[in-house]
Order: sequence, then C-alpha cells, then structure tokens
Amino acid sequence: MANAQQRDFDFLVIGSGIAGLSFALKVCRYGTVAIITKKKSAESNTNYAQGGIAAVMSAEDSFESHIQDTLIAGAGLCKEDVVRAVVSEGPTIVRELAESGVHFTERENVREYDLGKEGGHTKRRVLHAGDITGREIERALLAAVSVEKNITVFEHLLAIDLITTQKLHQSGLNRCLGAYVLDEFSGEVIAFAVGVTLLATGGSGKVYLYTSNPDIASGDGVAMAYRAGATIANMEFIQFHPTCLYHPEAKSFLISEAVRGEGAVLLGKDGQPFMKKYHPMADLAPRDIVARAIDAEMKRTGVDCVFLDITHKDADFVRKRFPNIHAKCLEYGFDMTKEPLPIVPAAHYQCGGVVANVDGETDITGLLAAGEVACTGLHGANRLASNSLLEAVVVAERAARKAMLQKSGVRSQESELPSWQSGNAGNPDELVVVTHNWDEIRRLMWDYVGIVRTDKRLLRARARIQNLQREINQFYWDYKVTPDLIELRNLALVAELIVESALQRRESRGLHYTLDYPHALPAAYDTVLRKA
Ligand code: FAD
Ligand code: SIN
Repeated sequence: MANAQQRDFDFLVIGSGIAGLSFALKVCRYGTVAIITKKKSAESNTNYAQGGIAAVMSAEDSFESHIQDTLIAGAGLCKEDVVRAVVSEGPTIVRELAESGVHFTERENVREYDLGKEGGHTKRRVLHAGDITGREIERALLAAVSVEKNITVFEHLLAIDLITTQKLHQSGLNRCLGAYVLDEFSGEVIAFAVGVTLLATGGSGKVYLYTSNPDIASGDGVAMAYRAGATIANMEFIQFHPTCLYHPEAKSFLISEAVRGEGAVLLGKDGQPFMKKYHPMADLAPRDIVARAIDAEMKRTGVDCVFLDITHKDADFVRKRFPNIHAKCLEYGFDMTKEPLPIVPAAHYQCGGVVANVDGETDITGLLAAGEVACTGLHGANRLASNSLLEAVVVAERAARKAMLQKSGVRSQESELPSWQSGNAGNPDELVVVTHNWDEIRRLMWDYVGIVRTDKRLLRARARIQNLQREINQFYWDYKVTPDLIELRNLALVAELIVESALQRRESRGLHYTLDYPHALPAAYDTVLRKA
C-alpha cells in the first residue's frame, strides 16, 4: 500500500522536452508513464530551438561526411562509435518525427525537405520548421502525448532528488527507485515510486549571467544525479553561442547560426569582416572558434558587441526564411534586412553531463538519461550545430528499448518509500538572499569561468562558490523547500562541477580555452567527477 504522498507508475520521465516526450511515447505501450515537468509542459530548451535537426537527407551528403564534421567539431574527444550510431539513425528519426506530426519546411514546388547549413557542417543537412523548429517539434510531440491513455503529464511539479537504494542505506547495486517531487502550488512533496526513471531535464545555461536558455535550464538533472552517486563528465565544455542579440531587454535572444548558413557575415566595429583571420571556414567555422574570435575582437577593439550582416541578401528571402528572428529583432528596433545586428556570445549548451551510453544507461541501475543532461560522447569537446535535437531523440528511443527489455521496466511489486523530511521553519524572510546568491553565481561564472579561462580565475570562482554553498545548504536544511531554493542549490552545485572539471583539464581543447595551457595534450581524456 502506498502512503498518502506516494504515486506509483511503471516509468517516470523527468522533463517534457524532446528527450522526455520521445521516450514517453515509446514506453507508454508497455506500462504507465508519469511525465513531471517544473513549468508548463512546453517550457523547455527544445521549445526555443531555431536552426533545426541535423540528418543526412540528400544525395550530395553522406553519413561519413556528417560523422567527420561531428568528430572535427568535437576536437578529438567524441566517442566515434556513438557518433556513428547517432548519425546513421538520423534519417529514420526525421521520418518518425514527421509521422508524429512535425511539419518540416519543404522546398518550394519540390517534395523535398529544405536543408539549412550551420557552422562546422560541410554540407546542407539541417531540417527545419522555418526558424521555430523547436516550437514545432514540441507542439507535435505534446499533441501525440495528449492522446496516450497511459501517459499522465504533471505540470508545475519539480523533482528535488532521486530516491536510490544507496540513500535508503540498502545494500547491493545502487538502484534508482523514483524521485521526490515538489508540487509548486501546494508545497507538498510527493514520492514517485517507479521501475525506471528517465532523466531528461535539459541543460544548465542559467548558471551564466548571459544565456540563450530559458529559466528552466538550472542544471537540476546533473545536480540530482551527482547527489545520487552517478558519474558526471566533461562539465567544463560549456558551449557559447556566437550570436545572441545585444540589447538590454532582449535576454540574449538567439540569432540562429542558420543566418550565417544563408550568407550572413560577422563584422567588427570598423564594418570589416574578421572571421577569415581565424579559420578557413570563416563565418561557418565550428562554434567554439567563432565565439572565441568574437571575444578576441571585442577585447582587441574595446567594444561591447560585434555585428552580423545579412543586408546583402534579398529582403523578401530573409523575411521568409527567418520570420520569427526578423519579427523579434524589429521589436527591439532592428531591421535585419536593412542594418547589421549587434550581437554577442552567450552560454548556450552543456556538452558534458551525466555519463550515459548511447542507450541512455547511467551507472545507477534503473536510471536512464537522454538529451542535454546526458554526456554520451557524441559532442566531445564541442557540439556540432543541430546535433543535439538529433542526439536527444536517438538516445531517448534507444533508452526506451532498453527500459522495455529490462524486466525492471515494469514494477514487479509495490514498495512503500519513506516520506520526505523537510526543515521545520516556514518560508524564510531572508528570501532576498536567494536572489542575491543566484545573481552572484551567474555573474562570477560569467566573469571567471567564461570563454577564456585561467587557473587563477577558476580558483577564485571555486572559493566564492564554496562560500555560497555553505550559506545555501544552511537555508536548505533549515527551511521548507521552495522551487527557488531547490534551483539555487542545484545551480551552485553545477557551477562547482564546471569549475572542478575546468581545473582538472590542463590543456585547451574545444570549448575549454585556458591561457595557462593554451595547447591540446596529445592524448584526449574525459574529466570525471563522482561524489565521494
Ligand atoms: P529540454 O528541452 O531543455 O527539456 C528539459 C525539461 O526538463 C523541461 O521540460 C524542464 O522544465 C524540465 N525540468 C528541468 N528540471 C526539472 C526538474 N527539477 N523537475 C521537473 N522538470 C524539470 N539544438 C539543435 O539541435 N538545433 C537547434 O536548432 C537548436 N537551437 C537552440 C536554440 C536555443 C535558443 C536553445 C536554448 C537551444 C537550442 N538547441 C538546439 C539545443 C536544444 O534545443 C537542446 O539541447 C534540446 O532541446 C534539449 O532537449 P532536452 O529534452 O534534453 O531538454
Ligand atoms: C542555432 O539555430 O543557431 C542553434 C543551433 C544549435 O544550437 O544547434
């Protein structure tokens, strides 16, 4: 018999982005599925994806070419078997998404998908739905989920921590039994007791002051998995997207790399292109190189932004190809068909995460991970543009097959989990401290753990984060938990993991560039962290 604060399901999916929804749609044929999501179900990084999903879809392209582009972008750290598996499943995945109701843009008068291009790709291979690909995918997957009787979606429920046998002091292999989840409105903490849990909580862009990510991206999944004893790898590889709109109210609105794919050029304050100085692929070089080049140009010339110019292209084409970006820029007073856009880099994607194989299996039994939260080895030291939506679906679907095959996929017996133990004090008056700490972490990560790093800055960041963590933990254990406090605690932990990983990497590779060790070491290695 379950106690009052316990819900029993066969599968628990934490997160309602592309990874969580894709997994749920597969496993729902084999058991009951709870999807919990901390805001409205559409609110996810997925919903903001612009450029599209990379897959080999044309006769001029080949798997080998997509594989090589991914390996080159990944700067020697990709797992080649994972790259091969993910890339080769691309066309099937795209067909399945289309069958689920995703409308990808087709070329005019031809029954073929329109294929975009982005940095690091040597061929056109990015399927897109206008410039709101993520919104279209999220819409279609949520619609598909809504008609599945075996799936229940719980909005405004925030996972606090995974429940594991280790935490319950049970002997044997560490096994995930579900999660403690906070109901944002009632303040009640519910134990979800399940056979298999999928972590699909996305990334951690909010660790940085400037980010293209929405507010949900506070790194909860990595923090929960770390606390539960899972291995975390390569967290230093934070991808900074080169082109976010520079405007005080635009919240780092993304200007898709597909704009450069259609011919846009980066200009310095003197109006001159500069990317040829940095890489033979110029404006379409891999993202780490472009972001670093912009950072160097801004520092060299002492300016706050550089510019992205597509005014040489036909204005009708630009409006039609990028309707959302064009309209958003107009809201901020910029007409991209007539003037170059002011842009700056911002934190965009977490390449590291919870170590998982290409089937989503982590080192905790019963815990799978897919999407941005997972580190499968596909991206290595730098993700190739539009490979993350692809990876999320491929790994989620393979994870679903594993979950269904595992006997543990369906609970064999109901078990009662201990209720959540909360601090006694009511909501703290000092909640302002939460906001202060949140701001301080984001600013110090931006200032000390940004595009260009040094050991001195990293050590300074570590000392400050450790101080903040002491304060946050005191709050956490003394007071009743709130969504803000839970996210702050996770944000601080993820910041710490990024800094620790960066300190472990004594070389520059891909997205991790340090003035102290400016070259790559001959042998590639992962930075691995596990709770002592
Ligand atoms: P998400 O889509 O982020 O979903 C995470 C879910 O988990 C959300 O529902 C969230 O609310 C929920 N969640 C988080 N923590 C908790 C918790 N504690 N409890 C309950 N729920 C929780 N990639 C591409 O391949 N192509 C692109 O064109 C592209 N464009 C992008 C543009 C932007 C502006 C951004 C921000 C990213 C872009 N990316 C792109 C990256 C890509 O969108 C993401 O990596 C991908 O969508 C991640 O999917 P996901 O399912 O792993 O996570
Ligand atoms: C973009 O449209 O530039 C984002 C693509 C990505 O992050 O993969």
